[in-house]
Amino acid sequence: MCGIVGYIGTKEASGILLEGLRKLEYRGYDSAGIATVLEGEIHCVRAKGKLHNLEEKLVGETNPARLGIAHTRWATHGKPEEYNAHPHMDMAKRIAVIQNGIIENYRELREELKSRGCEFRSDTDTEVIPHLIAEELSKAEQVAEEPLIEAVRQVVRKLRGAFAIAVICADYPDELIVARQQAPVVLGFGEGEFYCASDTPALIPYTRAILNLENGELARMTPLGVEIYSFGGQRLKKAPRTLDVNPVMVEKQGFKHYMLKEIYEQPGVVRSCLEAYVNSAWTSADHKNSPIRFDLPQSWYRNLQHVQIVACGTSWHAGLVGKYLLEQLADVPTTIHYASEFRYAPAPLVPHTLTIGVTQSGETADTLAALEMEKARRDNKSEEFEARLLGITNRPESSLGQLVSNIIDTHAGIEIGVAATKTFVAQLMAFYALAIDIAFHRQTIAAQQIEALLTGLSQLPAQIELILESQERYIEELAHDFAETQDFIFLGRGINFPIALEGALKLKEISYIHAEGYPAGEMKHGPIALLDAKVPVVAIAMPGPVFEKVLSNAQEARARDARLIGVTPMDEQDAADTFDTLIPVPHIDEILSPILTVIPLQLLAYHIAARRGLDVDQPRNLAKSVTVE
Ligand code: G6P
Repeated sequence: MCGIVGYIGTKEASGILLEGLRKLEYRGYDSAGIATVLEGEIHCVRAKGKLHNLEEKLVGETNPARLGIAHTRWATHGKPEEYNAHPHMDMAKRIAVIQNGIIENYRELREELKSRGCEFRSDTDTEVIPHLIAEELSKAEQVAEEPLIEAVRQVVRKLRGAFAIAVICADYPDELIVARQQAPVVLGFGEGEFYCASDTPALIPYTRAILNLENGELARMTPLGVEIYSFGGQRLKKAPRTLDVNPVMVEKQGFKHYMLKEIYEQPGVVRSCLEAYVNSAWTSADHKNSPIRFDLPQSWYRNLQHVQIVACGTSWHAGLVGKYLLEQLADVPTTIHYASEFRYAPAPLVPHTLTIGVTQSGETADTLAALEMEKARRDNKSEEFEARLLGITNRPESSLGQLVSNIIDTHAGIEIGVAATKTFVAQLMAFYALAIDIAFHRQTIAAQQIEALLTGLSQLPAQIELILESQERYIEELAHDFAETQDFIFLGRGINFPIALEGALKLKEISYIHAEGYPAGEMKHGPIALLDAKVPVVAIAMPGPVFEKVLSNAQEARARDARLIGVTPMDEQDAADTFDTLIPVPHIDEILSPILTVIPLQLLAYHIAARRGLDVDQPRNLAKSVTVE
């Protein structure tokens, strides 16, 4: 995680860099720092904690430097203290480096450097880099035409792990060097000015001409242009592309928090997904063409025996809904794995398997590694075992997009709040469309059922709007009751079990309240022991095969004095009699209901956290994009 940003050009670098950090703060906010090259010296300022601490330190400072780098940190190696904040410098303080990632062999490099007399000022893995560059630079200056990039190139070849780095040197005031190995970095192109950043939101205010640096590549940026090289030293020819993003998307637009704004964007996100995925002219009379416009290779549908899904966090919850849909609609046995587990203990190979990586950022290290591992272990196998990799992501231009050739774009627009909301709903939409597509090709459900599902999906945006309009105030008031609550239980069954997990995760992430999501029928096998009048239970009860079962499970909680909150359709008398508090949602086919039932749970988590006065968009210890293992 961590955010890196760099600038070289004709304007004052510091303002651009701080603005960039603001846009990248979602990646980590344990400390922040900036280094510029000013009057032949490196000028470095760092501060513990959020960006505003750094900004306070810089108040009143004028800094005309035209070259600089800046960093916002999510601590991995070393406590979140100022001395561990990036940029890190060499002993002579001529070279400054920022890094996103982990240098896995930093211990041995550190020992080697120490044995050569190097003194370390931090506990970080990153600090080895400026010291190594200083050593290499003195050698490169004897032999190389471009000594700084040559020194960095020599050093990156010694580093193991996943990293993106940016380097400046007081002796080379017209150069910014950037390198990438398994951690994202994008370059931005302006008129006589160039940028680098971990993610595009930092660049959008300045340029739409961008280039993703790929693994094993270095860039030498000067006011005259950008040169790209491989770690092997070969010059590469690459041209920037134009990014299609509206800058308004990354502003709060009057909402108190990004998270609330993103919750309210969900009807629009569902509409965008429907427009992108569904052929609206399709009718059940068309047996030839799928109603879904995914264009996956035809061979993938043939003999499909197994789907395996790898993901982390909220994306894993979306995958769990996906498993349910693929099994129930498309009749394909589906397994779901935490990417961090799968990559070190993969399930045995099953022939004719589709592997789906779900990651909103497209940068989660474990998910990428799981997919790479799957690709590698299926390499050179017979056709039935060939790798069929599909990515579901909100960032098709990400590392996932480079790794996997078939991508479903979730069209949610950039999400800034660390707790995922609109991207989760968009991932669910991708799974609905995929399950319908595969079901169509495998003819596992009737065309009329597909038509009914598509009609149901098309009604979702208005139904979400109804929940937002009619329930947000109510949930805000309800949240007052829980400002001091310490534990919550969320129950759901069938396709709403993952939503119980997601409701609990949202609450944990932003309100720091302990919460457990459980399949309602399992509650009596353990969590029921936790219940008393102080533990609220939120149950999702949607009419369908398990409706009455969920109500019975809720009664079991009530008998232990728990306060019962039901997310359930309006006008369901049995539910009204069961729950102490109702959060009504519109009537809907149970299989489509997760997209509605998750909305009140997002709002509940949001308002409880806001009520507790917490930093909803940047909860402690979390980062939105987890680019380390
Ligand atoms: C982090 C974020 C979560 C997210 C997870 C997976 O933990 O805080 O909100 O669900 O990473 O991220 P991805 O980008 O792979 O969906």
